[in-house]
Amino acid sequence: MSKKLKLAAACTGLACAGALAVGIATAPAPAQAGLFGSDDKAGVSYETFTDMLHLVMATDRAIYTKKVVARLAAKEKVIKASEHFEDDKALPLPAQMFRFGAETVATKTDKFSYQLLSLWPINKQNGPRTDVEKKGLAFIAENKGEKPFYGEEELGGTKYFTAVYADVAVAGPCVDCHNAHKDSPRTDFKLGEVMGGVVIRVPMK
Ligand code: HEC
Repeated sequence: MSKKLKLAAACTGLACAGALAVGIATAPAPAQAGLFGSDDKAGVSYETFTDMLHLVMATDRAIYTKKVVARLAAKEKVIKASEHFEDDKALPLPAQMFRFGAETVATKTDKFSYQLLSLWPINKQNGPRTDVEKKGLAFIAENKGEKPFYGEEELGGTKYFTAVYADVAVAGPCVDCHNAHKDSPRTDFKLGEVMGGVVIRVPMK
């Protein structure tokens, strides 16, 4: 592992606290070595860093979906989840919660950025812009989300490490809503398919 970045330098914001906790707790323990790849005390690899960030993001997203949206909207029916949550006095959709978090993080740090993108976006803002994003989204879809994509790209004179992690249709409402949505360019999503991916970008030193 030649490319390392100093975790302390990259994790100054609160957003990284979860990843730091995971890293500190697991990095020196040989029993956990397989969880995030191999690292040493000199630093963590870019792969490990983005894997840790993604674990926190994906876990928070799944918990919001399950403990808030599925429980209060689908099961208890006390409140709806709606794209127009302000007008409808409803819960924001999980993808919207994710985007609001990403947009807020972008105002606080330039050490990393992230987005939930798709080759078939409902919100045009969530379409790929760079060749590596397109390649990464195609790779995770072809591999059915079994492994993440890691790449490098140069944008505006800065070199970036860019990782893409699959976002899979884990429940019926994922495919039903996307397939029926008026702005969706794709109407044949199936359960278990990759619908998009989380792109995490880190400037390389
Ligand atoms: C009730 C409708 C609805 C449900 C249910 C839903 N989505 Fe979405 N999804 C949306 C909307 C609307 C957006 C655009 C949000 C935004 O403004 O960024 C979106 C955005 C996304 C994106 C980003 C690309 C895009 O289409 O803009 C992905 C990937 C995604 N959803 C996957 C999922 C998955 C996986 C599930 C199930 C766990 C799911 N969605 C459930 C409506 C839905």
